[in-house]
Amino acid sequence: MPNIRKVGVLTSGGDAPGMNAAVRAVVRGCLYHGIEVVGIRRGYKGMIAGDFIPMSTKDVANIIQRGGTILGTARSMEFKTEEGRKKAYNALQNEGIDACVVIGGDGSFTGAGIFSKEYDIPFIGIPGTIDNDLYGTDYTIGYDTALNTVVEAVDRIRDTASSHERLFFIEVMGRGAGFIALHSGIATGAEAMLIPEIDHQEEGLHAYLKRQDKKSNIILVAEGCKMGGAAEIAERVKEDFKDHDVRVNVLGHMQRGGSPSAFDRFLASRLGVAAVDALLDNQRSIMVGFVNHDIVHVPFNKTIKFNRNLNRILLEVADILSY
Ligand code: F6P
Repeated sequence: MPNIRKVGVLTSGGDAPGMNAAVRAVVRGCLYHGIEVVGIRRGYKGMIAGDFIPMSTKDVANIIQRGGTILGTARSMEFKTEEGRKKAYNALQNEGIDACVVIGGDGSFTGAGIFSKEYDIPFIGIPGTIDNDLYGTDYTIGYDTALNTVVEAVDRIRDTASSHERLFFIEVMGRGAGFIALHSGIATGAEAMLIPEIDHQEEGLHAYLKRQDKKSNIILVAEGCKMGGAAEIAERVKEDFKDHDVRVNVLGHMQRGGSPSAFDRFLASRLGVAAVDALLDNQRSIMVGFVNHDIVHVPFNKTIKFNRNLNRILLEVADILSY
């Protein structure tokens, strides 16, 4: 068994519902094994500044149901520099932290991977992002909750779309990935989903709008769509379809907030415990993932290097369902 006496846990990058449940599981997992645990506030920024708080089992009581992250989070430019990482190492040394668990997305794992090559401090990653875009896990913490939030919002907009016979372009999150758009589109019966992974979707959209005569339609646009944002696409469509009453809605950060779903709480709890187990197993520079309802270990360099592919069958399913 490795000699780990104190673990630091941090949340990093964009917040995601379920991060608190993961912090709770890491804290309680460590304490169960007799390991001290400290919370690192504000992600790598707090690590550099030595912003640490001791965590007891009580400190993580009543947080499993809370959105956001009690530790705070940030994207740190300084941690991308050698000097920043040196400061972080010194702060960890001063606090006597032997290992870290980072809950975040690919940017957070990139930083962790570089750091643990430079310094002898093992890092374990837990996938936490609403985008579900990490290679090596079927689900990331926060994705399921965000999907449900989007579904609820789109259902509401659908009421107005049908009552007024309007064509709505609804922009959802997903800087580089269409998981939220595609899956919530299928779940809400959206007429089309425009996503970053697919090129030349505008022709298909125009053909679709020409071929059917109903005026009430919902088009979901992933934020990273190559054709532009919902507003830009809507402007172009307005030009060609003057008889359509077009509206745009950007859901924005409401997708990141709120109480985590049952699935996200469960996933975060399992992954948090698995992260501590991985440390006790002498693992380092790996993400704990969830594949076919089981825990897997994926090296950081794979989670960063490989793109998480969309299941192409779902594109066909979406086409069939909007026929
Ligand atoms: O958490 C990932 C994500 O939701 C992306 O889809 C989005 O582009 C980004 O965060 C926006 O984050 P922020 O507003 O915090 O920069």
